[in-house]
Amino acid sequence: EIMSDIFDLKDLEEQIKKSLGLVEVIVVPGDSDEAPWVKKEMGRVTVQLMKRHLADEASKIVALTGGTTIAAVAEMMTPDSEMKETLFVPARGGLGEQVENQANTICATMATKAMGSYRLLHVPDQLSQDSYSSLMEEPKVKEILNLIRSANLVIHGIGEAKTMAERRGSSEEILQNLNEKQAVAEAFGYYFNKDGDIIHRVLTIGLQLEDVSNSKLVVAVAGGASKAQAISAYMKQGTSNVLITDEGAAKALLQLH
Ligand code: F6P
Repeated sequence: EIMSDIFDLKDLEEQIKKSLGLVEVIVVPGDSDEAPWVKKEMGRVTVQLMKRHLADEASKIVALTGGTTIAAVAEMMTPDSEMKETLFVPARGGLGEQVENQANTICATMATKAMGSYRLLHVPDQLSQDSYSSLMEEPKVKEILNLIRSANLVIHGIGEAKTMAERRGSSEEILQNLNEKQAVAEAFGYYFNKDGDIIHRVLTIGLQLEDVSNSKLVVAVAGGASKAQAISAYMKQGTSNVLITDEGAAKALLQLH
């Protein structure tokens, strides 16, 4: 029984890898919409993958996004020799998350658990074009931006568009725009329709989607059947090369394809 379950997951991984065109897919058992431990399990396998990848890298810089899934990755982090040399940085500035789900907080937690180091990016959430431009001129900001852009591993979440826009307390105008343009997915502060086209983005400094695709390994960690549509849409624009998900999302994903 257990052996056939493992076999089924391997089979799911292969099918998703093919249909989304990814380098690697890992599916953990269960559905994180229903059981909280499933998110921790995704966190645990993400930590394993991080260690495996960083072992071969000369410079070890990891950029992280916010959200409860990446917070679970931080929670499962453990120290070892690779991790001690790792620098953790937030991928982008404030995206309107609660403190515990902010990239900065997750970075500090993960670095502490890894016994590595971290740098933070202090940027207010709602930036006007003017403040954005002047912040970009700050030497301290430039310095950390360079570090962020040189990350060789990016670990990020994917969310359902409406859920994310509401969680961020977005304005009525933005909500309406997302609704009209049929946004289904969100990642890195960008919103996408079902074809993976960008239809809106949150103005903040840090990695822009173009920068993300220059990184060596970009790992999306997202599970729960409710995120299947979002994962499928986001993956269509092809920035990420690895997906760590759960059985619930994996099965629902295959029904969409
Ligand atoms: O706001 C940061 C972020 O990574 C989003 O880009 C993503 O949509 C969301 O968090 C995922 O959050 P969660 O893991 O809690 O579903």
